[in-house]
Amino acid sequence: MVIAAYVALPLIDKLTLRWFTRDISARGALVANALHDSTIDALASRDAHRLALLFDRTAQDERVFGIGLCSSDDLFARSSAFPAALSCADARQTAGKENPRVTLPGGAVLVTRHSLVAAETSVIEAEPASEMILLHDLSFIERRSLDTRRYLIAFLAALGFVVAIISMFVAQISWRGWIAGARALLRGEVGPAGPMPAELAPLADDLRSRLRQLEDEYRRARGPEAGWTPERLRGLLHAELRGDEIIVVSNREPYIHDLDQHGGARVRRPASGLVTAIEPVMRACSGTWIAHGSGTADRDVVDLHDRVAVPPDQPMYSLRRIWLTPEEEQGYYYGFANEGLWPLCHVAHVRPVFRESDWQTYRAVNQRFAEAVLREARTDDPVVLVQDYHLALVPALVREKLPQATILTFWHIPWPNPESFGICPWRREILLGLLGSTILGFHTKFHCKNFLETVDRFIEARIEHEHSVVAVAERETFVESYPISIEWPQPLEGDWASPSDCRRLVIERHGLPEHAIIGLGVDRFDYTKGIVERLNAVERMLEKYPSLIGRFVFVQVASPTRSSLDEYRAFQQQVERLSVRINSRFGAGRYQPVVFLAEHHDHAQLIELYRAADICVVTSLHDGMNLVCKEYVASRDDEQGVLVLSRFAGAAREMHEALIINPYHVEETADAIYRAARMSSGEQRERMISLRHTVRDFNVFRWAGRMLSDAARWRLRARVEERVRKHGLPEFGGR
Ligand code: F6P
Repeated sequence: MVIAAYVALPLIDKLTLRWFTRDISARGALVANALHDSTIDALASRDAHRLALLFDRTAQDERVFGIGLCSSDDLFARSSAFPAALSCADARQTAGKENPRVTLPGGAVLVTRHSLVAAETSVIEAEPASEMILLHDLSFIERRSLDTRRYLIAFLAALGFVVAIISMFVAQISWRGWIAGARALLRGEVGPAGPMPAELAPLADDLRSRLRQLEDEYRRARGPEAGWTPERLRGLLHAELRGDEIIVVSNREPYIHDLDQHGGARVRRPASGLVTAIEPVMRACSGTWIAHGSGTADRDVVDLHDRVAVPPDQPMYSLRRIWLTPEEEQGYYYGFANEGLWPLCHVAHVRPVFRESDWQTYRAVNQRFAEAVLREARTDDPVVLVQDYHLALVPALVREKLPQATILTFWHIPWPNPESFGICPWRREILLGLLGSTILGFHTKFHCKNFLETVDRFIEARIEHEHSVVAVAERETFVESYPISIEWPQPLEGDWASPSDCRRLVIERHGLPEHAIIGLGVDRFDYTKGIVERLNAVERMLEKYPSLIGRFVFVQVASPTRSSLDEYRAFQQQVERLSVRINSRFGAGRYQPVVFLAEHHDHAQLIELYRAADICVVTSLHDGMNLVCKEYVASRDDEQGVLVLSRFAGAAREMHEALIINPYHVEETADAIYRAARMSSGEQRERMISLRHTVRDFNVFRWAGRMLSDAARWRLRARVEERVRKHGLPEFGGR
């Protein structure tokens, strides 16, 4: 504002002076015109006195300083203020200048000259060059200019003040917004799993990399905390749980024996996040895994107690199989678990179906699993790891018979909010069943919070939010988040073919273009996985970026699952139709943009695909964790490849360097796939290195280790309490 005033004031002075000069000249002409006739008359009669009187009267006007009449070169008459010293020649000369001013003792005056012409009488003609000289007082201009300056300065000061106030107000608001955004960023509420405010975007990467650095430093400082391995997990089991026996109980078995064409048994590893995570833990810890024997040759390979040692090629633990009739499987697994609880817990817009008969079967089958646990337990306080939504009643059933058991239950799928969970007619029974656990684990803090709120809403329980403990009838359950993961390093890593060989093999096997950019999706064929949304995004990307037509190929592996359910069959048909449509729109000759592989793939086949793929796309609409993204990262020891990851998968909370998308937003997903397709090798490396550190450090041995050391803590506490209950507190100085 000061600079503006400094520049503007002289300009305004100049401008006003020019305007006033122009006005005064015009006014001078007016005065001269008004005096014209009287002056000519007086001049004709050579009456100088009369003229002086006339001029004095006129000069009373505050702006006229003096009037003189030059006849030829003589000053013939003048008003009294007109200086006698100002000759006609000087006055004429001054008036002809561009800035016609003279300075008199009274101040500056402006000089104008006006010719007197008598058109009809010849009096003046006889008096050549008669002119009236007017001296205009300029002091009023200075006064006005001073006023103008004052007003202008006052106006600029007021404007400056208002602008300053507004700026401070706006700055305050944006500062607060910025701080709130930065806090949300630090808490992980924006960016990967949420919208990133534009003003924070440039900072986000710096902040994240700084946080990661701090995290690394912290991990390094903790020393032995880093590096969870099977040996370390085994060590923990022996040191903290004194080698107590471990019993895992789940619906899905880790190895399925199916009949082959020759009537022999062929072993298959099921596509299940649960199996991917728990199996390496069991290999490290030994013990017994109880599960439903669902393979066609399962009965052929078990012993008299329905047990088989696994892994088949190098036995390390015992698999105890439970046999279910087709009716039991229908009611318990397909019905209550997968038509009821599965859609209930996944917000994927499929209605849960609850049938009384399914519930009764679910209860009966849970009872059978619990009895199997009791039979397998060699002590009265085993460590029992109950897995997933199929067995929600098992914890309380085991607790009833083995009150000393340490029961760790892990819920592998999301836990919804209380309103959604309230739909379940047997919500109380499910909650009470789960609260038989010593520890109840979820993938994320958010699911823990939902669970605690659900308990609060539907049953009588004491909840200690600060310790995350729920107590029902004095029996406590610790509710905690344990983000699940995969084995690191991956089995048989040394035998993997190089990424370029994998690529060549995949290109040959599926007839892809030689320089194909390969996108990959690997899922169970489930409506929660967002496969339709993913294919829509691929279609949109080809529409929007036609340069990729002929180059981009999306390979979708979809392992058949739960196909006897209508919802699944309809979904699977919809996906197949969609891929046919995309291929007919964009395919040409041998080029097919979507390669759909709706069949089971074993681990080695998946590794080959992961290592061949430029991009891995995970678009779950809701997912507890999702381990495909972690497997992809683990397989990329060449530090190349891009992960596109749904913000609705639990993994998005850890894998910040993926391109995080909202799978419901087709445009955003299409753009992310395109960005991944164009990403430089340097950026891929940077992101992949960081992702690999996360998966390495937060591997499944750490997951199990955290749960088991929490269990050890609770066990110790329970034992001390039991001793105190039985024998009372030891006296001070006593035994
Ligand atoms: O990620 C774990 C999980 O999604 C389980 O919740 C589910 O049981 C399993 O993978 C696969 O499903 P299914 O056992 O029905 O084949």
